Amino acid sequence: MEVVAEIAAMRAAAERARASGARIGFVPTMGALHQGHLSLVRHVRARSDVTVVSIFVNPTQFGPGEDLARYPRNLQRDCELLAAEHVDLVFTPTAASMYPDGSRTFVEVAGMSDTLEGRSRPGHFRGVTTVVAKLFGIVAPHVAAFGQKDAQQAVILRRMVADLMMPVEVEILPTCRDTDGVALSSRNVYLSPEERRAARAIPAGLDAAKAAWQAGEREPAVLVAAARASIDREPLLRMDYVALVGADNLEPATRAQAEAGTALLLAMAVFAGTTRLIDNTLLP
Ligand code: PAJ
Repeated sequence: MEVVAEIAAMRAAAERARASGARIGFVPTMGALHQGHLSLVRHVRARSDVTVVSIFVNPTQFGPGEDLARYPRNLQRDCELLAAEHVDLVFTPTAASMYPDGSRTFVEVAGMSDTLEGRSRPGHFRGVTTVVAKLFGIVAPHVAAFGQKDAQQAVILRRMVADLMMPVEVEILPTCRDTDGVALSSRNVYLSPEERRAARAIPAGLDAAKAAWQAGEREPAVLVAAARASIDREPLLRMDYVALVGADNLEPATRAQAEAGTALLLAMAVFAGTTRLIDNTLLP
């Protein structure tokens, strides 16, 4: 496995791979890798000849007062995990090389970037779409994988790739969870043992909404309330938002859509102390 920090070297490796007819599979990450990341790596590796993983804590997707400075970083451990997965190339650019002085071009998916996560984290998705567009330009992947854990990010990136006619297949893979149902996240390391226990109320809330759905409930407000109740019962958690939206357009779901079986997304963000956790489920 080769670890490449220079953009020019990564580009050259991608050009060599393409020239030899190899199919490039790509998983962009911010490091602090867990089984969720590795599930994406395994997926693309099975579908490509050269597997590239980027590790870059992208400053433009963090707001002022967010956790950019304390975001967990452990390149050596990450590289050990990726080597064990037989990854070919790890791309670890610096912030100065990705955003050289004078850069002023951003990619923004209008209309979808200011709801849900975007409302709580203004500018977040502009940072995500900008960096992923840059990474796609450097790595030139045939296929790239993202997690359903970040459902809104997945919808927005699909839209970006379609709108900008990028020649990349985007695959979205299911959320990996711990044995108690809590979604794996690099940010889980911030949680105290009590907060980590309390976080079980998040998947429990999603399950409660799913159970209500299975029992025939189709009123969006009632489905949302079922999820919210689980969070409200847990004193260590504080709801940021919970919403039922169209899985493709992220617009508020109507009862008529729920009755018609339109793909819907129930998404939430919850604070445990100062740590912000997100999770979601698809309905039906
Ligand atoms: P990061 O949070 O490191 O996540 C990298 C990829 O792993 C994303 O596609 C994310 O959805 C996926 N992922 C995270 N937790 C997961 C889980 N429990 N199960 C399955 N997949 C999971 O998302 C980002 O980085 C950044 O925004 C990035 C796309 C790299 C742009 O900077």
